[in-house]
Amino acid sequence: MTIIDGKKISNEIKEELKIKIENAKSKGLGVPGLAAILVGENPASQVYVNSKKKACEKIGMNSVVEVLSEKTTETELINLVKKYNETEEFNGILVQLPLPSHISEQKVIEAISPEKDVDGFHPVNVGKLVIGLETFYPCTPYGIIELLRRYRIETAGKHVVVVGRSNIVGKPIANMLLQKKENANSIVTIVHSAAKDISQFTKQADILIAAIGKPKFITAEMVKEGVAVIDVGINRINSPESKRGYKIVGDVDFDSVSQKAAYITPVPGGVGRMTIAMLLQNTYNAFIKQKEI
Ligand code: GUN
Repeated sequence: MTIIDGKKISNEIKEELKIKIENAKSKGLGVPGLAAILVGENPASQVYVNSKKKACEKIGMNSVVEVLSEKTTETELINLVKKYNETEEFNGILVQLPLPSHISEQKVIEAISPEKDVDGFHPVNVGKLVIGLETFYPCTPYGIIELLRRYRIETAGKHVVVVGRSNIVGKPIANMLLQKKENANSIVTIVHSAAKDISQFTKQADILIAAIGKPKFITAEMVKEGVAVIDVGINRINSPESKRGYKIVGDVDFDSVSQKAAYITPVPGGVGRMTIAMLLQNTYNAFIKQKEI
């Protein structure tokens, strides 16, 4: 059994980007820039945005974080997005989700220029992804593809079962693996909460992608011997024995499932680590495209 090391792979990707950015800089092309916008005081969002900023700094990427009050109106936020659409030094724009309930996330996403949409959430980019055109891949699914690729886990002709149908993970990863392309070409099943018996599907998986948001939902009885398991879950559960009183677990019961799996991602240290690395990759890709290098 191999534990897929997301920390190691994400560090490799960041190192690769750091070198590419140094090269661009030394050629006088400038450096890529990311504009992140945070509305309100959601503590998890604050943590995410801060780690994105730190990651940019570490690889020599330019970044700005705009922190707006909870009371910001939809129009004010959209106007700020439009300002960054027109600001050449920022190649990527990210609006941290969730947004306060009085703001339409969809309208804000649609205000981002598709060329700067490094989350890959704009309907134009979603459409391009579905029909196999070049576009920004949403960061978490992109991270999953990189883990499979760098661990040389065959996807062509394999049965991938995706548990969960979110716009951020389930739908895009299913569509990406479905493409008739390298590092894809899988037989894909998406299963979700409406299924009477989820295990009937998960037992068939050569590659199982768990993105449900329920702690330790996938147990050993639900998988076959030799499966490759990708755990996207980040769930906080009470843990009186740990210092903070809680711990982070995935959607997979790691202890039991790892007894049967050939490959498995840990939580933490698996897919989560990859999301920021791929955001940096997308921002670099946006920079290259915009500079027409
Ligand atoms: N909130 C949770 N995940 C994400 C993400 O990938 N991008 C953005 N912008 N917000 C999020």
